Amino acid sequence: MMDQNDTPIFELDHITYAYNNQIALNDVSLTVRAGERIAILGANGSGKSTLLKILDALYFATRGTARAFGEPLTEDALQDEARAFAFRRRVGLVFQDPDVQLFSPTVWDEVTFAPLHLGLAQNEVIERAEWAMDLLNITKLRDRAPHRLSGGEKKKVALASVLALRPEVWLLDEPTASLDPRSTSRLLDFIDELTREGKTIITATHDLDIVEEIADRVVMFCEDHAITGDGGARAMLSNRERLIECNLIHAHRHRHDATGEEHIHHHLHAAPHEHEH
Ligand SMILES: Nc1ncnc2c1ncn2[C@@H]1O[C@H](COP(=O)(O)OP(=O)(O)OP(=O)(O)O)[C@@H](O)[C@H]1O
Ligand SMILES: [Mg+2]
Repeated sequence: MMDQNDTPIFELDHITYAYNNQIALNDVSLTVRAGERIAILGANGSGKSTLLKILDALYFATRGTARAFGEPLTEDALQDEARAFAFRRRVGLVFQDPDVQLFSPTVWDEVTFAPLHLGLAQNEVIERAEWAMDLLNITKLRDRAPHRLSGGEKKKVALASVLALRPEVWLLDEPTASLDPRSTSRLLDFIDELTREGKTIITATHDLDIVEEIADRVVMFCEDHAITGDGGARAMLSNRERLIECNLIHAHRHRHDATGEEHIHHHLHAAPHEHEH
């Protein structure tokens, strides 16, 4: 029998996914092992969110096979309620768009729903939910309606609901997008804590500045919805030609007032930057 620790968390084998006729993932193969921290990089529309939804068993591949924890990850397999519960307990996704994720009448209901529904003890859920809301500084939003919050507040509620579940596999879709600096920094510290606990963390992000903090491995999509590179984070980020080719950094013109000279610099997507002149 295979040692449990050798069983990959996810095995995607030549997965293709299309929304009607719109290809979103093209022949994607990927193996994720327990304890890996992976950043998924790619331009808008390259397929990152679709990949996370396949890993979370919200979508099922049009072609190819997917396995999770050594078992087939198919619609049929998840018809079995016990298996579906076990899967949902182990894997948590924070959506890119919190509007899709949030549905409860109050923030408190939202944050406690998944862990209660998945059978965690009530006192444990209360403790975790309070802790998660404190970490993200949303305790004061407890009785508010999630759909009437600001974009960043919604994102924090969506994050807190997965924080309260504490799954073993974390799928984070642009977790820092729309978070203010203090919340971003607390989230990064929390990801650090998960790392020490040996959790598996897969993050789709445009924020190249945080990649080396949250990931050891980078899987890069190009605009053809296929994986173009998969390797160590440092090496992947130092291949500037590929980052430009895949629309992850861009060349950008400036005119400098003093000299009237024009330069081209390569910039990270949204990061604040300084130049040397
Ligand atoms: N619900 C949908 N219906 C039809 N096409 C879709 C749908 N959702 C996504 N797509 C298409 O699938 C492709 C991949 O989309 P996806 O959301 O996975 O990209 P992404 O890499 O997460 O982009 P972003 O950086 O903008 O979040 C895109 O071409 C997109 O237009
Ligand atoms: Mg996306």
